[in-house]
Amino acid sequence: MFTFSTASRIVVGAGTAQQVPGLVERLGERVLVVHGHHSDPGTGPLAELASPTLVPWTGEPTVEGLQHAVESARAARPDVVVAWGGGSVIDLAKSIAVLLASGHDVLDHLEVIGAGVPLPTTSVPVVAVPTTAGTGAEVTANAPILSPEHGVKASLRSPAMLPALALVDPELTLTCPPGVTASAGLDALTQCLEPLTSIKANPITDALAREGLGRASRGLRHAFADGGDLAARTDMSLAALLSGMALANSKLGAVHGLAAPLGGATGAAHGALCAAVLATTTEVNVRALEEREPDSPALARYLEAARIMTGQRSASVADGVAWIRETVELLGVPGLASLGLDPDEHERTADAALAASSMAGNPIRLTRDEVLEILERSS
Ligand SMILES: NC(=O)c1ccc[n+]([C@@H]2O[C@H](COP(=O)([O-])OP(=O)(O)OC[C@H]3O[C@@H](n4cnc5c(N)ncnc54)[C@H](O)[C@@H]3O)[C@@H](O)[C@H]2O)c1
Repeated sequence: MFTFSTASRIVVGAGTAQQVPGLVERLGERVLVVHGHHSDPGTGPLAELASPTLVPWTGEPTVEGLQHAVESARAARPDVVVAWGGGSVIDLAKSIAVLLASGHDVLDHLEVIGAGVPLPTTSVPVVAVPTTAGTGAEVTANAPILSPEHGVKASLRSPAMLPALALVDPELTLTCPPGVTASAGLDALTQCLEPLTSIKANPITDALAREGLGRASRGLRHAFADGGDLAARTDMSLAALLSGMALANSKLGAVHGLAAPLGGATGAAHGALCAAVLATTTEVNVRALEEREPDSPALARYLEAARIMTGQRSASVADGVAWIRETVELLGVPGLASLGLDPDEHERTADAALAASSMAGNPIRLTRDEVLEILERSS
């Protein structure tokens, strides 16, 4: 048995951002717009909205930042929340929208580090408009929030957090600088690979992850080399969308299990952290499966993924790992030490990774020594 949920409506295509004002108007009069610092709400489609309340946002969402944002959003009593930005902005907007009806603090609702109090079952509707191609947050039911106090990112999660509308316009990503293209794009690639090999995969997420992995593998190097390549940007926007649909309905794995505490320990971009551990995690997972669960269907999935990524029908898993290493290097993503991870943090990071919710989707239960090996070899 499996179920599949996504945003109530998805609009995709170059130029579709022009439709945002008309689509938002149908959802209500009082509009709250959460936007990134790179976008100016005084120009473009957002300028057509009638007196929206603006919430400018910089950086990844934190417990404290979200708490303040919810408190100030209450005064606006929005009928609809528009998220116009990268994954950080979309996550903040989804969190504000669902927390407006909660009487609890943010921390009370957080997974793993919080009290796990269920979120309200309904949310103010969210219109999510991604300006990066990576997280797929426009179609997921969670939002990772950084708690500096705990040194970790943990999610708010509820079916009510699925946006009412995801509008994916690849033209909005044309201005992403190469570093953001690399980090976000490698996140999308990882979010297709992990659901494809996850123990929670199902036939719908398989189809989405395969298509997304193919598009990310074709588009990523081109989008990085030439930010104005609309065909490559379109591949990446679709890969990100498909990755979000896949991860929200299956699970991720050890790469994201590690990314949660690594984000807390280093503050580095989420996609760069995923990329830094992706190749070695794949190697360690495959070795562990061959040693302890040689009949696991995940082994065939890793082979299939290697063939999709390399575009070679005869590619081996080792060829797939080599392709990942080459791509990560080409896109200039450094190892964990350069991303800010102190070797003294390895033990704590490994323990936190083993407790992270994404670990539950990994194709095999990794030992503490294997997780430490990934951290050491990825540094
Ligand atoms: N909710 C989910 O399902 C999910 C999934 C994966 C990751 N995430 C989270 O998403 C966040 C990362 O999101 P992201 O990778 O999109 O990065 P981001 O939203 O943090 O943005 C990175 C930088 O790019 C800038 N930027 C965004 N769009 C731009 C554009 N079009 N032109 C120029 N600059 C632009 C931003 O202002 C910011 O400085 C992390 O917090 C991560 O944990 C969430």
